[in-house]
Amino acid sequence: MPVTAIVGVQWGDEGKGKIVDMLSDRMDIVARYQGGANAGHTVVIGQDKYVLHLIPSGVLRKGKTCLIGSGVVLDPEAFLTELDELTARGFDVRGSLFVSGRAHLIMPYHKLIDNASEKDTGGTKLGTTGRGIGPAYADKASRTGLRVADLFDPGYFSDRVRQAVSQKNAMFSNLSGDGGVDAEKIIESYLGYAERMRDYVGDCGSMLRKALAAGKSVLAEGAQGTMLDLDHGTYPYVTSSPASVGGVCVGLGVPPNSVTEVLGIMKAYTTRVGEGPFPTELEDADGQRLRDDGDEYGATTGRPRRCGWLDAVVGRYGVQINGIGSIALTKLDVLDGFDEIKICVGYQSGGKRYDNMPEETRLLENVTPTYETHPGWKSSTAGVDSYDDLPDGAKRYIDRIEELIMAPVSIISTGESRSATIIR
Ligand code: GDP
Ligand code: IMO
Ligand code: MG
Repeated sequence: MPVTAIVGVQWGDEGKGKIVDMLSDRMDIVARYQGGANAGHTVVIGQDKYVLHLIPSGVLRKGKTCLIGSGVVLDPEAFLTELDELTARGFDVRGSLFVSGRAHLIMPYHKLIDNASEKDTGGTKLGTTGRGIGPAYADKASRTGLRVADLFDPGYFSDRVRQAVSQKNAMFSNLSGDGGVDAEKIIESYLGYAERMRDYVGDCGSMLRKALAAGKSVLAEGAQGTMLDLDHGTYPYVTSSPASVGGVCVGLGVPPNSVTEVLGIMKAYTTRVGEGPFPTELEDADGQRLRDDGDEYGATTGRPRRCGWLDAVVGRYGVQINGIGSIALTKLDVLDGFDEIKICVGYQSGGKRYDNMPEETRLLENVTPTYETHPGWKSSTAGVDSYDDLPDGAKRYIDRIEELIMAPVSIISTGESRSATIIR
């Protein structure tokens, strides 16, 4: 019963989309298990670029089944927009794409509350994507959420929306002084979405368990990254879902022993979007160079990503939490021009050394990274597809990363295209 889990090791945008697209070729099913349209997974095929927010990146491979599991929070408007875009670009997904009826719905008031909370000067600004993710997961946990299956019971759905709206409007008027949303308009638009979604809804958990019993292979596509995980990340500067490997079983409805392989996706340096601690952040010319050469601008919100050196404490933590068997190291080519490349091997704070991720986010905000400096290789790795063709300096950088994070690097990505990949 093989499930291969793909997890981001850092703060998201590690290049999961590219690697999922590459691996989907030899998989039967690709399934998203958590998050929502906050994700932006980029796949480049020839001259064409696709950015997927909700639909699994495997959709770009013909003949694959793509599932959106119960652990995802689904914005029907975003889903239908993405579906229309794919259809317009020649991808026919009817009969091969399904959303779990158990997935929770993102409602218009979730987006309003998300954005109003971010503007609330008395609160902690997180720099969310504004997609309503946190409020939707909060309703799920407080058992006031609405699920995809509810869309197909119009009487029940309408009553629940009216109930929710009266509560949310009170909260919304506290946050923004505004009147909030109109329940009847929401009901009308969501029941409209339901008609368009009908053919795409199914019991994804059951489909997956049957497929596994029949020996089919499943790729579980993670969104965000381990450091954004609700439990194990830099709380409260996290997303609201289990972005680490634990989310696979919860969000797909498959048993833990079905997950036979965990591949961690890790960028050869570090980026982060939004607020929160980032020990190796560079606010100098090197940081700007990483942003320019790596084209580090958010795939969902277009925000410039914060950039810094690779943090091996983060890498090791991700390997341990997720049981990562091997790493896909991405964007190696972005480091090509640097004279020197640094790796953070530990932190210092208050005269103490930290080799492992501290629990306290406040402490992490104030640590001083301890760096090792490696000479740059100063030659192009862009598009290199064979390990032997990598410059020696790049090989030494990879060897050192393996030692520090205690996991082998099995895939090296040297460009955005499918062919710019080394499989070891
Ligand atoms: P994801 O959220 O983890 O799927 O990553 P994103 O798509 O948000 O961001 C990764 C970006 O880097 C995308 O624009 C990819 O096309 C690009 N990319 C992926 N791998 C490589 C690589 O090895 N080299 C370069 N230069 N770009 C890459
Ligand atoms: P992919 O799948 C990078 C960040 C946001 C913010 C925090 C909470 O493309 O790697 P949210 O909207 O989830 O409540 O925001 O999480 N964030 C991401 N950062 N990549 C992502 O997804 C992200 N999804 C959310 O910037 O800091
Ligand atoms: Mg992304």
